[in-house]
Amino acid sequence: MATTLFFNIATLGGVDRKGRLRLQGSEMAQFETLDNAYLLVKDGRIADFGPMEQMPKFDDNVTKVDADGGTVMPSFCDSHTHIVNAGSREGEFVDKINGLSYAEIAKRGGGILNSADKLHEMSEDDLYEQSMKRVREVMFKGTGCVEIKSGYGLNTEDELKMLRVIKRIKETSPLKVVANFLGAHAVGRAYAGRQAEYVDLVINEMIPAVAAEGLADFVDVFCDEGFFTPEETGRILQAGAKHGMRGKIHGQELAPSGGVEVALKHNALSVDHLESMTDEDIAMMIGTETSPTALPGTSFFLNIPFAPVRKMISAGLGPAIASDYNPGSTPSGDMKFVVSLACIKMRLLPEEALNAATINGAYAMGLSADYGSIAIGKVANFYITHPIPSIAFIPYAYTTPVIREVYLNGERQN
Ligand code: NIG
Ligand code: FE
Repeated sequence: MATTLFFNIATLGGVDRKGRLRLQGSEMAQFETLDNAYLLVKDGRIADFGPMEQMPKFDDNVTKVDADGGTVMPSFCDSHTHIVNAGSREGEFVDKINGLSYAEIAKRGGGILNSADKLHEMSEDDLYEQSMKRVREVMFKGTGCVEIKSGYGLNTEDELKMLRVIKRIKETSPLKVVANFLGAHAVGRAYAGRQAEYVDLVINEMIPAVAAEGLADFVDVFCDEGFFTPEETGRILQAGAKHGMRGKIHGQELAPSGGVEVALKHNALSVDHLESMTDEDIAMMIGTETSPTALPGTSFFLNIPFAPVRKMISAGLGPAIASDYNPGSTPSGDMKFVVSLACIKMRLLPEEALNAATINGAYAMGLSADYGSIAIGKVANFYITHPIPSIAFIPYAYTTPVIREVYLNGERQN
């Protein structure tokens, strides 16, 4: 039995003794901490923690790690990413500076289709190597659980290629990974002008093929103005459900276009983006299982409004925040920066933003029984910081690296 003791922890953050699966409303301001603490890990899981003065004596078989006055924080749980993709799109970045909108770029055949063309040309091995670099990048930025979507294939073969790469990442990376099938991200080039037929392809060919290989945990649709309608989204969610894939969808980024309603109707686990969320949408979400997930990095990068997360919390909801790491609308998977943006642009308290990026992110992936906080029995995914004056320093010092060591499954990553 591998046992590791971490001691001299200045602050142990994200402590949860109640085993809550997500935090909602006023609970979100409670990011419990324990000062001057120890933490015990056995076989990759958290076995015990407490104040230093109550630390039991351990024999030499126990590996000892001196946290040396650093803070220990639960790893970020990034519930919305497109980390598997082929290459960058900085040309569109310049187009946007020159005045084109995200929707205009997409209409011209750029955007998502541009990434699909690149992905089509790339071998599965190269796609894996390139994507693993990003996975390692976010791992050292503190992410311990990540959702990864397909959606740059847009034909059956290339969607399967993406999902096989995600499966390989699941098997080879120490991060906890969940896979989301996003065949309905845009209409594939071969189906230009034939959206209804493309939706049929997603339902009748892609979903059964994905399910046959057991490649996806969830199903996603870009339900928005200029992309897929709520009616199409509903049919895709139903088809996914038949194969055991719950919905986690893109909704109401570009316009209030029915994404929330359809997500709730099909009991999706999350509805993400919500930059155009209305007060009625917020009211509709109260008391549901569906996680509202905001993507502050997207608003920052596209220069569009931020999702009304402050209002969601006041209404008693439990939003998650995620990176949306992708080559078009958010070329960054830096969850520390996402937390800063949530504080600065959405007026979240550091505690609220950290909960949104950890336990509530884990909830939005169906993982919060095992990840997202420092709780006995949970997987030992955390990072140790350099000495910092307080938890609020993390989002405050918005470009200062604070992480000294990363532990996943109780093991130090290097
Ligand atoms: O979540 N909004 C839709 N999809 C992605 C962007 C994809 C892209 O531009 O490549 C997003 O922002
Ligand atoms: Fe996205």
